[in-house]
Amino acid sequence: MPAKIIDGKQIAANIRAELKAEIEKLKAKGIIPGLGVILVGADPASVSYVTAKEKACGEIGIYSDDNRLPAETSEKDLLALVNKMNKDPKINGILVQLPLPKHIDEQKVLLAIDPAKDVDGFHPISVGKMVVGQKAFLPCTPNGVVQLLLRSGVKLDGAEVVIVGRSNIVGKPLANMLIQKSPAGNATVTVCHTRTKDVAAHTRRADIVIAAAGKVNAITADMIKDGAVVIDVGINRVEDSTKKAGFRLVGDVDFENVSKKASLITPVPGGVGPMTITMLLYNTVESAKANI
Ligand code: GUN
Repeated sequence: MPAKIIDGKQIAANIRAELKAEIEKLKAKGIIPGLGVILVGADPASVSYVTAKEKACGEIGIYSDDNRLPAETSEKDLLALVNKMNKDPKINGILVQLPLPKHIDEQKVLLAIDPAKDVDGFHPISVGKMVVGQKAFLPCTPNGVVQLLLRSGVKLDGAEVVIVGRSNIVGKPLANMLIQKSPAGNATVTVCHTRTKDVAAHTRRADIVIAAAGKVNAITADMIKDGAVVIDVGINRVEDSTKKAGFRLVGDVDFENVSKKASLITPVPGGVGPMTITMLLYNTVESAKANI
């Protein structure tokens, strides 16, 4: 039987509607959640992410302070802007879009963000709190994956999860979230990466496979067991002359064939993507409520 599709767009829309209602209540108390967004340079993928983030803020009533800086911006000027946002009471969350140009030390910039406004969850203080199970801003893409699983009724307790990819943005935090002793965790997690000897040997025994490798067709049908749940975090551009833009977006999973074997699967686009921005909106609202 073909897999059921997990509709990330619909789940994201439901959460955004919940957040919109919450923001209306905050506004009645004079609180307007605010997000400071900084983009340095004009990397096309980053420009489209940031544009979508700004639009999503507007749609649910979050104030957005958008800063698009030239690629030549110095590290000093960027740090000065982060510090200004740290002090700005209208801003509850700060997002510096990654990657940054090579002449800027990414870790230095992430460290400069006030942890109380770290809605991306990338500051070492946020990461540390997450690892030890304290309340923290959870990074948006991994949290989006967990919410998709929970809202699709997937059992995490005791599940064998295999994550393919060990990035700081997805693989590492997601593994930590899923092993927490909590209803959103309690899974047994294996993380595969570029030096794993036999990725398929791991993915074949998984109840849930999460692909975050950044590679087209990293997960093929022979690599998953019948009835597995498959979450595709990848967003890859492949040339396609039939499209106006000259390319189309595909994930890391061979969707056509894997969807014949899986029980549940996310599409690309329309799976994890809409959830990332939604969890950013969620973190910004939590920050405005001073809940973290
Ligand atoms: N670049 C790719 N994904 C992300 C993200 O979630 N946050 C930031 N700041 N940059 C990114």
